[in-house]
Amino acid sequence: MAYAAFRSIGAYVPKKILTNEDLAKMVDTSDEWITKRTGIKERHIAAENEYTSDMGAKAAELAIQRSGVAKEDIDLVVCATISPDYFCMPSTATIISTKLGLPNVQAFDISAACTGFVYILSIAKAFIESGMKKNVLIIGAEKLSAITDYEDRGTCILFGDGAGAAVISATDNKDEAIIDIHTGADGEFADLLMTPNGGSGSAHDSLDQEANSCFMQMKGNETFKVAVRTLTKDVVDILETNNIKSEDIKHFVPHQANYRIIKAVGDALKLKEEQVVLTVAKYGNTSGASIPMAINDVYEAGNLKAGELMLLDAFGGGLTWGSALVPFSPKK
Ligand code: UT7
Repeated sequence: MAYAAFRSIGAYVPKKILTNEDLAKMVDTSDEWITKRTGIKERHIAAENEYTSDMGAKAAELAIQRSGVAKEDIDLVVCATISPDYFCMPSTATIISTKLGLPNVQAFDISAACTGFVYILSIAKAFIESGMKKNVLIIGAEKLSAITDYEDRGTCILFGDGAGAAVISATDNKDEAIIDIHTGADGEFADLLMTPNGGSGSAHDSLDQEANSCFMQMKGNETFKVAVRTLTKDVVDILETNNIKSEDIKHFVPHQANYRIIKAVGDALKLKEEQVVLTVAKYGNTSGASIPMAINDVYEAGNLKAGELMLLDAFGGGLTWGSALVPFSPKK
């Protein structure tokens, strides 16, 4: 049987920085409020002519280089995004594939909001374990600034842009394999976090019939409570199912939505500070890109070594959630 190994990571962060002080000039907020309630200090914003696919392709290029897998051996490209270059079609994955020089490879997008990276990891694992594919390029890429209402202080303080990518390859060595992935969704809570306009349902269901935009809307406080509850249950379940103790986790890499959410989940698992990966202060919430961007930070700091176990945990619009137990397994 083929197993799926997490071979490499790459990321791209756009140059422009939007600080809390900048936002305080745009809406009624303050650095103090944002820092205290979210832990965010700044976020990066893509240039006007810089698309989600541009960021995704740059992150992917790096991940491929670092994987030791030849570009022509990539046989599937999957992109998780809620801010595609074009709504509906073509998919951002196909545009990224062409930018990378992989024009004949199966490519598609998925929509699972902030859980996107865990979802595409599960897709890569399934394709590889079934024997259908050998080297899967997965990308979380977001230009959230394009769907953020910079007059809404409840959301505009949270989101940033960026991309992260990984190469997942077949291996027959079980020690290298992704151990387990748990995923779930519940549409009952769809209205907590959504872009109500621009889709086929918007004519009837729109929360804001007047607006003709793809801006995100969020019931922040309710989302916060469900996030803490779901994320904590999720990580406890996956550790118990696999008989792994929290002290065996080298890097806990949660979706970077809010420092207080991360702290609550980390405390529930009794994790030490050095086990918890935190990038929320400098990138804000980059939805599907947040986990791979965070893994890349650990990698580029020289702190991600072969065989070290990562616990990924994400939660987002849908609602969707997921967790994964992933050893870092670069090609030997
Ligand atoms: O990424 C996937 C899922 N997303 C999340 O997990 C995000 C979850 N939610 C959150 O992170 C938090 O709910 C927020 C950071 C969005 C908001 O923090 P909160 O502690 O839940 O605040 P709140 O919405 O309960 O608002 C408290 C007060 C309100 O004022 P009143 O009614 O008490 O007078 C808000 O109007 O804070 C006010 N407020 C602000 N004040 C200054 C809301 N946003 C701001 C702001 N600056 N930006």
